[in-house]
Amino acid sequence: MEIRTDFLVIGSGLAGLSFAIKASRFGSVAVITKKNAMESTTNYAQGGIAAVTDSDDSFDLHIGDTLRAGAGLCREDVVRFVVSEAPGRIAELIDWGVEFSRKSGIPSAYDLGKEGGHSRRRVLHAADSTGREIERALLDKAQSLGNVRIYENFLAIDLIRESKVRGRASLPREERDRCLGAYVFDIDNDRIDTFRARFTVLASGGAGKVYLITTNPDIATGDGIAMAWRAGALVANMEFIQFHPTCLYHPEAKSFLISEAVRGEGAVLKLKNGTPFMEKYHPLKSLAPRDVVARAIDIELKKSGDDCVLLDMTHRDRGYLMERFPTIFNRCLQYGIDMSRDPIPVVPAAHYLCGGVVVNGHGETSIDRLFAAGEVACTGLHGANRLASNSLLECVVFAHRVCERIRELLPGSAEEELPIPDWQSGSATESDESIVIEHNWDEIRRCMWNYVGIVRSNKRLERAKKRMELITQEIHDYYWSFKITRDLLELRNLSVVANLIVACAMMRKESRGLHFNLDYPDRDDRYWQRDTIVRR
Ligand code: FAD
Ligand code: SIN
Repeated sequence: MEIRTDFLVIGSGLAGLSFAIKASRFGSVAVITKKNAMESTTNYAQGGIAAVTDSDDSFDLHIGDTLRAGAGLCREDVVRFVVSEAPGRIAELIDWGVEFSRKSGIPSAYDLGKEGGHSRRRVLHAADSTGREIERALLDKAQSLGNVRIYENFLAIDLIRESKVRGRASLPREERDRCLGAYVFDIDNDRIDTFRARFTVLASGGAGKVYLITTNPDIATGDGIAMAWRAGALVANMEFIQFHPTCLYHPEAKSFLISEAVRGEGAVLKLKNGTPFMEKYHPLKSLAPRDVVARAIDIELKKSGDDCVLLDMTHRDRGYLMERFPTIFNRCLQYGIDMSRDPIPVVPAAHYLCGGVVVNGHGETSIDRLFAAGEVACTGLHGANRLASNSLLECVVFAHRVCERIRELLPGSAEEELPIPDWQSGSATESDESIVIEHNWDEIRRCMWNYVGIVRSNKRLERAKKRMELITQEIHDYYWSFKITRDLLELRNLSVVANLIVACAMMRKESRGLHFNLDYPDRDDRYWQRDTIVRR
């Protein structure tokens, strides 16, 4: 079946929905999302969204904090416009119905949280479930608009390129290919549809599931990056994986984050024997930048042989904790941890991907009519390390800029319509060995955790590369022999992303921000103050 739309949006997180709401004024919008529409990383965001909204704060301070965290790799022009456009985008979110927490006793003022690396309190939040509140409000808004249609359980498989449709095997490097839409797996009807669009926006989020231990939900399998890379788009900085220092450590808790805002309100990291350790590593102690804290925990765990460290908030009273961190408080309680009495066991976990599909300041990728916004994109905002709570901000600022750019391009975008061939399933048959998929998933995630984790070395990266080559070949053979399933598609994408992370990590022969290699422990600004760019 062919479905026509002006704008195809892949993903229903903050980037996708905020673009869809805006773009609906200029044409029809199809938002496809691979599970139910709420299910996104956005939905799990806790700490909040950073923006200068207080008279005690300034754009220069927010810009300075972002650049410092980014360790010399941020694009300063991007940092400047994101920070200065933030208050306008926040006002829109509020206008669309997002309810941020207000100061107790002063209902006219928003309560501002503090997180690592921020020199001021500037994080707007909805208690400790900011993402859920944002998703709720934006989904309500999008669903109320006649021009937006949301397709749930629709999984994008591959982008449709003009060169392929015209039967050209490849284009000369200087020639830009054009995106005509995407082939999409309609999971409920077990069918592959063609979505033809004038403009396609990738808003498919990150790739935390490539690691064994992650704060990310199951949807984060890097599909957008893999699709863009297969289509020939530029991808960059995949080595910069942010590990969040405090993921709940409990055998029954899957991927539950303990927000940095808890440390922002005074929680202290301690060893299992009760000794605080962060003063050895940074003057800001437990509230040092994330890369420093995650590495410090990694070192301490290796030294002590312990399985976790502790996050101690027992000096704050129960009533305060229940009001400020209701989600975290209740979840911990489910596992028998009363955070007003017991320190919380935590470990670092893969959390955020700073790299992604290369875009310019308007979200344009290297492929014509293909845009990217949110975690899938590499915009230059985060450089080598993202400042906490700058990600939700990047989603809204870039969604807005993408919309503005598309609005400019719209008048010249109607032209000859190429017939797009239906998806070819070939001779694929039902698999009788689905267990292979599960094993390969597990193997990739363990391999990445063990060899491409918080601390890397040439030897570990070499090992990862060899293992990934074998697994990738196996997945490739399987992919072309058997009928498509959601797990198989995600596994294929995960393997692409894992290979890209390894490739970028091997290219960067220094340590900077989130990338630490024991064989090159120093930062080398003379040669490496640049992005690691890869292309198929
Ligand atoms: P997402 O919100 O991840 O949305 C991606 C969408 O794409 C989903 O709907 C998904 O189903 C869909 N999708 C993916 N692949 C396909 C496909 N092939 N076909 C169809 N649909 C597809 N950042 C902050 O700034 N502040 C915070 O407080 C904060 N807290 C966080 C807490 C947690 C636990 C985590 C994991 C991250 C947190 N982050 C935070 C990071 C931030 O939440 C994300 O970077 C951001 O929400 C990404 O938004 P997005 O719109 O780019 O992608
Ligand atoms: C958190 O609440 O600690 C997550 C914030 C972020 O990732 O920006």
